Amino acid sequence: MDSRNFLAFSLCLLFIFPLISSVPLRFLTRLTNRDGSVIKMKTSSSSLAFDPTRVTQLSWTPRAFLYKGFLSDEECDHLIKLAKGKLEKSMVADNDSGESVESEVRTSSGMFLSKRQDDIVANVEDKLAAWTFLPEENGESMQILHYENGQKYEPHFDYFHDQANQELGGHRIATVLMYLSNVEKGGETVFPMWKGQTAQLKDDSWTECAKQGYAVKPRKGDALLFFNLHPNATTDPMSLHGSCPVVEGEKWSATRWIHVRSFERSVVKRLSGCVDENESCAKWAAAGECTKNPTYMVGSEKEHGYCRKSCKVCSS
Ligand SMILES: *[C@@H]1O[C@H](CO)[C@@H](O)[C@H](O)[C@H]1NC(C)=O
Ligand SMILES: *[C@@H]1O[C@H](CO)[C@@H](O)[C@H](O)[C@H]1NC(C)=O
Ligand SMILES: *[C@@H]1O[C@H](CO)[C@@H](O)[C@H](O)[C@H]1NC(C)=O
Repeated sequence: MDSRNFLAFSLCLLFIFPLISSVPLRFLTRLTNRDGSVIKMKTSSSSLAFDPTRVTQLSWTPRAFLYKGFLSDEECDHLIKLAKGKLEKSMVADNDSGESVESEVRTSSGMFLSKRQDDIVANVEDKLAAWTFLPEENGESMQILHYENGQKYEPHFDYFHDQANQELGGHRIATVLMYLSNVEKGGETVFPMWKGQTAQLKDDSWTECAKQGYAVKPRKGDALLFFNLHPNATTDPMSLHGSCPVVEGEKWSATRWIHVRSFERSVVKRLSGCVDENESCAKWAAAGECTKNPTYMVGSEKEHGYCRKSCKVCSS
């Protein structure tokens, strides 16, 4: 072997040996940590893991996906704890005005959390953005829902029929339903318009309601993602979905609605927009109403005022 060949040979060894020696080690970490299938997200506050191998596609019409074990038991219990004692009867959006109204169609009770209200909520919100690839600011704050025996939400669309709601970030492009509890019987999420090649086989552990379409049984920690819009941004009628009546046990869930555009910015705009919302604002302001009747005219922390422009309280 001349010196050139020897150099080449030893260089080869140099490259091969570290590889060989590291293989068993890497294999081990892969087996124990399942490192190869976990995407690690680095966010400003925390590092979080998200595992795409736990996601299955349920249907393409509508586009629906199930993430098994998206939330830990501790996360589920924490979200329920935050909601307990603050539940109110659930409302629906009126088709024409967009106002929240009570309806027999929806008999659950619920409440909205605040965005990033604590570390656990913030972590769940980060995971939601990582999984859906949709920006966090496009999401509404999570809604926690409680269904007792017999309570349900009849099939409905999550996109809006009224104009007012669409102005807040546009349509809801996608919905994520997170199941926070197991339900002994009932409480399935059903898609009555689902078009599958073959029927989903269902035994007696499913309710009659669930047999009316493709259905998903609530399992603590699982998360169901479905799209209310087609990829071309038109509304998808097959996203029609409902919550079947709870027959045994109780159902807790968390909902995340995600809009086409930033929801946060449009809410802030609505709350602080430099507008008068009544034709008499200028007249009232001239009469000193801004100081005499500030809640209506200027607004409070919770409610926006109706005459912010005339009262000259706009920040920009
Ligand atoms: C709202 O409009 C949709 C579509 O036109 C209709 O299917 C639904 O029944 C209406 N809901 C109510 C409460 O009127
Ligand atoms: C949008 O996509 C849906 C589903 O593929 C299709 O049925 C519909 O015709 C499309 N609409 C437009 C305006 O392209
Ligand atoms: C303006 O205020 C008056 C008096 O409160 C009310 O009758 C009227 O409906 C308001 N107009 C609008 C557009 O809200």
